[in-house]
Amino acid sequence: MADLSSLCKRRGFLFQSSEIYGGLGGCYDYGPLGIELKKNLQARWWKAMTYRQDVVGIDASILMSPTVWKASGHVDGFNDPMVDCKECKNRFREDKIDTSKPCPNCGAKEQFTEPRDFNLMFKTQVGAVEDSSSTSYLRPETAQGIFTNFINVQSSMRMKLPFGIAQVGKAFRNEITPGNFIFRMREFEQMEMQYFVKPGVQMEAFEKWREVRHQWHLDNGVRKDKLRWHEHVGNELAHYADAAFDIEYEFPHGWDEMEGIHSRTDFDLGKHEEFSGKSLKYVDQSDGNKKYVPYVVETSVGLDRCTLAVMCDAYRKEFEGDKEKERVVLKFDPKVAPIKVAVLPLMKKDGLEEKAMSLFQDIQKDYMAEFDVAGSIGKRYRRQDEIGTPYCVTIDYDTKDDNTVTIRDRDAMTQERVPMENVTTYLRDKLNF
Ligand code: GAP
Repeated sequence: MADLSSLCKRRGFLFQSSEIYGGLGGCYDYGPLGIELKKNLQARWWKAMTYRQDVVGIDASILMSPTVWKASGHVDGFNDPMVDCKECKNRFREDKIDTSKPCPNCGAKEQFTEPRDFNLMFKTQVGAVEDSSSTSYLRPETAQGIFTNFINVQSSMRMKLPFGIAQVGKAFRNEITPGNFIFRMREFEQMEMQYFVKPGVQMEAFEKWREVRHQWHLDNGVRKDKLRWHEHVGNELAHYADAAFDIEYEFPHGWDEMEGIHSRTDFDLGKHEEFSGKSLKYVDQSDGNKKYVPYVVETSVGLDRCTLAVMCDAYRKEFEGDKEKERVVLKFDPKVAPIKVAVLPLMKKDGLEEKAMSLFQDIQKDYMAEFDVAGSIGKRYRRQDEIGTPYCVTIDYDTKDDNTVTIRDRDAMTQERVPMENVTTYLRDKLNF
């Protein structure tokens, strides 16, 4: 993880938030390449989840009525038990450390306070008057914006059960111990979908969505043996859920949750009915206009965690023969790679740069591409390997004679000579997704 996070900073994927002021824990800024990678994943999710007849998208506000969070159980129950080290005053999640052992920060022995509940929601004020009536929260999950809009979406879009509502957006949790780079953050993005079904058929939908979501990660290029299922059993299963599985990825810090697929019964809609006094029942025309609160199957993945998993999965150190020739390469699937093609004139002079620039401008019409003229060609290839660019196109002196260019494949490291006028067709063929 340390190698990856240093590459991310050096190459413009991720920076610590407010770094010039010493940083803000649990918050990160995406640099030019990081945002491109994240946007590619987000676009793939949006397409996979909403370009279908039975799912539509929304974009709900981050600030909501505070009653939403009472109804959902977050005001009373969204807590982590925390302990403080009496010596260094550092705070830890009780379930993440062994309190019978010395403090992981300062080494003091048996110096922890009794566990206390700590609510993870960020409080804020809405409006000019600061009293308890104006207290609101930054949403700790995007899901509630979907539940509260269930009737709006169903009636305006004339949706029939089963159907889903999808959303991508920021969520905020005042995590006691953020860490493992962008794995656990205080401000992060979720991609969630709530699928509403008739009570009784939820398990069918649950199994279907498990399969779809697992395949989505594989389609991003994540290796199959780095994914596994974790079933929630016993105490782990929320009291309102009748089934829950996580998709775990083997991160450098170990196997950990990347996505949750939960069968949440009618708990959320039921609670919102109770607290709002409004009916959230569906009128089932296919069943004699019977009215009922639908059951919900939820798929919920952290966009940042997914970005981290894709980066971890792509990260390789390779040696060509002796140790001197190490290369670090991000073997992104071309579908998600931030830069698809780099155009590299061998020299600035003798008209090579102009020729390369005109090719670059053509390529850029279709693909996110980079033009790099600085430094030795070897160094430029290394940089493109490190940022995971699948193809490099080099313009050299032979180009001037025969109008051909070299196309280097990132993974095979083969170099192919291709006529300049065929480059865009060549790339279209290779980057056909
Ligand atoms: N609506 C259900 C829900 O929010 P969750 O398991 O608390 O369930 C869903 O969160 C996903 O959101 C997780 O699987 C993870 O990918 C992501 N996530 C949760 N907390 C996060 C954090 N502090 N930092 C980054 N991602 C987080």
